[in-house]
Amino acid sequence: MSKKTLLSGLKPSGKLHIGNYFGAMKQMVELQNSGKYDCFFMIADYHALNTVQNAKEMREYTLDFILDYLAIGLDPKTSTIFKQSDVSAHTELAWIFDTITTMPYLMRAHAFKDAEAKDKEISVGTFNYPMLMAADILLYDVDTVPVGQDQKQHIEYTRDTAQKFNNTFGETFKLPEPFIMKEVAVVPGTDGQKMSKSYKNTIPLFATREEITKAVMSIVTDSSGETPVNVYNIHKLLRSDEELKAIYDQNKGKYKILKETLIEDLDAFIKPLREKREELSKNVEEIKAILADGASRAKTRADAKLLTVKKNIGVN
Ligand code: TYM
Repeated sequence: MSKKTLLSGLKPSGKLHIGNYFGAMKQMVELQNSGKYDCFFMIADYHALNTVQNAKEMREYTLDFILDYLAIGLDPKTSTIFKQSDVSAHTELAWIFDTITTMPYLMRAHAFKDAEAKDKEISVGTFNYPMLMAADILLYDVDTVPVGQDQKQHIEYTRDTAQKFNNTFGETFKLPEPFIMKEVAVVPGTDGQKMSKSYKNTIPLFATREEITKAVMSIVTDSSGETPVNVYNIHKLLRSDEELKAIYDQNKGKYKILKETLIEDLDAFIKPLREKREELSKNVEEIKAILADGASRAKTRADAKLLTVKKNIGVN
């Protein structure tokens, strides 16, 4: 049986947090290890450029992300790990999509509407963001895109754009499906809202013991109940409901003990990841080789698809 194709990516725009991991990255690793997919894992640096506009920071975040990808178990031997900016077909196809897309349609994107509601100055790159993401996915005839809930609308834009292109220029693109795990579709942060860098409510994925302690101690608790809901909802990522029921029943109202248990559990989960990452960071040359190899593999596939697109629109 031929393998299905999977692609996902993350923006190197700050430190990864456990919301990224449980919402998307864990599934990326598991689906890769199932052996059923031909996998592409991208570092979406051109998407990050909308907010990271400093060369030193961009380089640091990008290197950090490759180490993070490898430390959680993405495997460059079986999967293609690459940087978006290394494969120019992505931005080229995004332009082609811009020409068949209307402004009112892009104005319905959640990210655009949020920025507008906050009266932010919106770059053209932020406005066109969904078209670059559609190109990322459609270039590789992708079947499955593992992501968190907040990316669902982007996958819908991708499907709409594929359909619009196919209707205009003939059958060219496959329609991808999002892969969203219901229980972790929106991982909550320390204040109970969605965990997000912009809300400053994150627990970093590679946090030190001190960082874990600081984050857990800052979890907002409601003193009226016996169970600290925000602590429990993060704890749920690490233990089964039965295990947690026993712990929380035994410690009703003892928020300090419950938080300390969560710190222990988070540290036990993060420590091996931290150590693996530390080990990998000693060999920067190997990282460079992985990226060069990934770029070449992704480019071969993407360029072939772009050539078909060019034929279909009549520019080749
Ligand atoms: P980014 O970098 O914002 O987020 C990376 C992934 O983490 C998920 N995520 C969450 N999941 C559950 N709960 C949370 N609190 C949480 N916070 C973040 C996101 O849903 C996402 O899956 N546009 C993408 C990057 C991208 C991409 C692509 C993804 C560019 N091209 C092509 C897939 C395919 C983004 O901004 O992700």
